[in-house]
Amino acid sequence: MPDLTTTVDGLKLPNPFLIGSGPPSTHGAVIARAFEEGWGGVVTKTACLDAARIINVSPRYARLRDPASGEIYGWENIELISDRPFAAWLDDFRMLKERFPDRMLIASITEECSRDAWAEIVTRTQETGVDALELNLSCPHGLPERRMGSAVGQDPELVGRTCAWVMEFARVPVWAKLTPNITRIDEPGRAALQAGCHGLTAINTVLCVMGINLETLRPEPTVQGYSEPGGYSGKAIRPIALRMNVELARLIRDEFPGRSLSGIGGIESGEDAAQFLLVGANTVQICTGVMKHGYGMIHAACARLAAFMRRHGFESIEAFRGRSLAFFATHEELVRRHAEARRQGRAARELPDEEWSPAEIARQSGTIADDLQ
Ligand SMILES: Cc1cc2nc3c(=O)[nH]c(=O)nc-3n(C[C@H](O)[C@H](O)[C@H](O)COP(=O)(O)O)c2cc1C
Repeated sequence: MPDLTTTVDGLKLPNPFLIGSGPPSTHGAVIARAFEEGWGGVVTKTACLDAARIINVSPRYARLRDPASGEIYGWENIELISDRPFAAWLDDFRMLKERFPDRMLIASITEECSRDAWAEIVTRTQETGVDALELNLSCPHGLPERRMGSAVGQDPELVGRTCAWVMEFARVPVWAKLTPNITRIDEPGRAALQAGCHGLTAINTVLCVMGINLETLRPEPTVQGYSEPGGYSGKAIRPIALRMNVELARLIRDEFPGRSLSGIGGIESGEDAAQFLLVGANTVQICTGVMKHGYGMIHAACARLAAFMRRHGFESIEAFRGRSLAFFATHEELVRRHAEARRQGRAARELPDEEWSPAEIARQSGTIADDLQ
């Protein structure tokens, strides 16, 4: 049996799967349920000092389904961070560490852009015995109106300043969770690592509009006829998350060796997880996948990851972590390799665009459209 255990920033995990911050980690009782099911680590729903200002609306979710199978592959939420009082979170952190001392409890926190506020939330949270902190610098809706969440994550200077405040007071490992709603995710990533954060988490949700109802002409999810852009998650965002993990893994490899990366975004299976680990993530987190499949999905995810490892003869996570990162190149390098393969008769000539007939378009795109055949 391959060994799935992994150690990241001193945190010992039975496997690289963590529950991501969101509904599956929304209070102590459901987190306990996750631990009982076998999850080795949980990132809690984001807490802040003054929850009275966190007011949710309903409905807060909308889903995109495959018309044939009905499967949900895209999920929008306009949910805010936790509306639970901070004191209730502190009680839960203590209770969870007492009941599950060897499971990793990573408290997600966020605050307004003030040194005092961050100092207080960091100090009071870590006093409860949590194993690490994840800084939510990335929620794309609601919080930015208050200059929090992705309003910070989109500004490398603010990321650096916030992380520096946190690192003044933090006595446990700190991960900065980044937003994908930015052109170059390496810039806030670099700012967080330069400020001393131990690791990065990527990605939070992708800003989206799920759809417009063609009967009512109203956007969805509709709250009394109105909506706002929300956060897109689930399978549909996995390629975006993977690309951003590639960029951050390169940043860590080239400029901050030894720092950690936690991959999240559309992961639902052991095979999905393997891909994030292959580009260099140390751990993977799952949020929407748990809402779709339940806490019990951890068993299949571990079994499938182990099966992948067995197939390749990898005995540990470290045996293959980051293996695929070396296979990303520039376009120029691809052209050079392709030309070399053609010279050696190992690759076909690529047709110039002028020579693409409808049949060639069908062949190249794998379509079954009749009028292209
Ligand atoms: C309903 C919902 C609530 C979320 N709440 C939080 C949150 O409080 N803090 C946070 O950092 N991320 C939050 N997220 C983002 C997830 O942790 C994750 O980054 C994102 O959904 C992509 O991963 P996934 O496809 O596995 O869900 C939330 C996501 C969803 C769907």
